[in-house]
Amino acid sequence: MLKNNPSNTRRQSVPCITIGILISNAIFIPTGFAQHRTAAELYKRTLSATCANCHGTNGKGVVNGDIPLIDKFSQIALYSQLNAYKTGNREGTIMPQLSKGYTDDQLHTIADQLGLVNEGPK
Ligand code: HEC
Repeated sequence: MLKNNPSNTRRQSVPCITIGILISNAIFIPTGFAQHRTAAELYKRTLSATCANCHGTNGKGVVNGDIPLIDKFSQIALYSQLNAYKTGNREGTIMPQLSKGYTDDQLHTIADQLGLVNEGPK
């Protein structure tokens, strides 16, 4: 009988496996890229979140906080301020010391992230 012929079953399963591999690739390859993008995004957000203790989320301030708001700066202006603190061109109580704890790359990342939020629609 045709139904019980083992060679017939094998022939049918090969296209099924091929289709299965194609479908799983279609699902998992974009997911892989998405995870990569999310990790980079997470790094930027986490680094910028270190400023939120004093400046509030996205630099918008904290209730009764006497710390200046930093939600008015563009990416370039923010980096320029951070760099000025780090190099001693701008004085302060906390920021000169704090900014020295970040690499130049990290200051760029923070300025890009927070400045981008500031420059976006409010
Ligand atoms: C421990 C509290 C604290 C943290 C954390 C902190 N800041 Fe500040 N920030 C201050 C204070 C206080 C000032 C006022 C200047 C000074 O005395 O150092 C200030 C000033 C600034 C200014 C200048 C604001 C203006 O109006 O000119 C910028 C820009 C700034 N901070 C950015 C940041 C960024 C970006 C981070 C995260 C990397 C950060 N700060 C983390 C306390 C903090």
